[in-house]
Amino acid sequence: MPTTPPAPHAAATPVSPSITPQTVGAGLHASTGIAAAIDGIVREIAAHSARLTGERPPLPGLKESYEALMARAAAVRGRPLLYPFLGSGVGRGPLVELADGSVKWDMVCGIGVHFFGHSDPDLCGAALKAGLDDTVKHGNLVSNFEAYELGEVLLTHAKKQSRLKHAYAATSGAMANENALKVCMQKHSPAQRVLAFRDCFMGRSLTMLAVGDSHAGREGLPISTHVDYMPFWDAQAASAMGGKAKFIDAAVAKLTEYTDRYPNQHACFIFELVQGEGGFNVGDRDFFKALMDVCRAKRVAIWDDEIQTFGRLPRMFAYEHFDLGEYVDVFCVGKMTQACMTLFTEEYNPKAGLLSGTFTGEGCSFRVGRRIVERLAAGEYYGENGSFNRHHALFREQVAGLMARHPAWFPAVPAVGDLAGGLGGMMRFTPFGGEKSKIMAACKACFEEGVILFYCGHGPHHMRLLPPLPAMTEDQWPRVFACIERGLSKAAA
Ligand SMILES: Cc1ncc(COP(=O)(O)O)c(C=O)c1O
Repeated sequence: MPTTPPAPHAAATPVSPSITPQTVGAGLHASTGIAAAIDGIVREIAAHSARLTGERPPLPGLKESYEALMARAAAVRGRPLLYPFLGSGVGRGPLVELADGSVKWDMVCGIGVHFFGHSDPDLCGAALKAGLDDTVKHGNLVSNFEAYELGEVLLTHAKKQSRLKHAYAATSGAMANENALKVCMQKHSPAQRVLAFRDCFMGRSLTMLAVGDSHAGREGLPISTHVDYMPFWDAQAASAMGGKAKFIDAAVAKLTEYTDRYPNQHACFIFELVQGEGGFNVGDRDFFKALMDVCRAKRVAIWDDEIQTFGRLPRMFAYEHFDLGEYVDVFCVGKMTQACMTLFTEEYNPKAGLLSGTFTGEGCSFRVGRRIVERLAAGEYYGENGSFNRHHALFREQVAGLMARHPAWFPAVPAVGDLAGGLGGMMRFTPFGGEKSKIMAACKACFEEGVILFYCGHGPHHMRLLPPLPAMTEDQWPRVFACIERGLSKAAA
């Protein structure tokens, strides 16, 4: 906040046409003094961060104070934290330091949020710059330009292979999805039913829990939305049925049964092209296309939820990977973009008043999110020979090694087929027959051994990795898997 009193008003000086007038804000942001100060801070962060070189146990002497912090956090939360994780505020790429001084490989990154890892100098710099903003929050009514700038950069890339034209920001994935649902329902009013895939996940608002296919998250809650569930693509089931075409025909028949039973009553079909929480299930283009063709014919909006998949697959957008961009009417993004957004085509641009809210997000999230999308586009990450595919192959190689050394940990799981799966930066593997209690125990044991993983799936369950791929080097995989091997060994015992 400025502390010096304002200067008395000087007489207005006519602006010469050759001099571009500059706002006070533009002057502040162009200040070389501030730029130098930010550079200095970023260098200092990098110097501290460089002290982290690998996983390590808690520092002696910090155990008690850490336990006290955990107890305080649990008292606030009303229950113990699932993982004993409280960060110290410093990390280095895939490494993160906890407040007890331990350092871990972060292979889940806040469930997919910190895709460029911890203490990334460029992103720290963008966040520091946001500290100059006059307010922390931006809203629907008044906002600085950063919110629109993130929308612009997302739309620039989205438009390459879709008809998406506009974007509206939201403070969480669930809220971006709520906005998407409103857009679809208003467009197709009075249609109020929703089509969704089995095992889908949409977020934790009351409506999104009603749509998401998970009993645990909505126990005791009213179901506010009529949802008709469709089977997701299942290569195992398709081959048991006698081939892909038979599986697709059966799915189209099921969809048609719903649209015939409830004519003109479906506002949208929600597509998660690679399911996240549901188990990192990878879809299939022909399967999706057949269902999307039915939606087109019946005037059902095609809504693509890429909140978990965006940025981390072998193409920036999952719809590009499956070559389905032309079908997408409404689209949601979140997690690694820091601020969440709902994108829609001109046809789905809603009436004034439908999308609003006190906050749309913070300058920091918008600036950092923009840099993330810009860097994703500028890097050599995507495509057949991109680094995300290479990282995925290395991940599978590591799992194959584990399976060869410890076959007893990997009994066959017929419903899954391949015990190492996923796509790009969505990686899963399935030890211990995919039994939930054993997978959870394995996640906790891996945490103790220096690597943070999580689980996914509704049975069979899987160990899930959402690693910070742009921040990783290929030689780090064996180091990560050495910790995983120790964790699984503990869990197996
Ligand atoms: C596909 C999908 N949609 C929506 C959400 C909800 O996002 P948020 O937790 O930010 O509300 C998630 C979160 O995991 C998700 O994976």
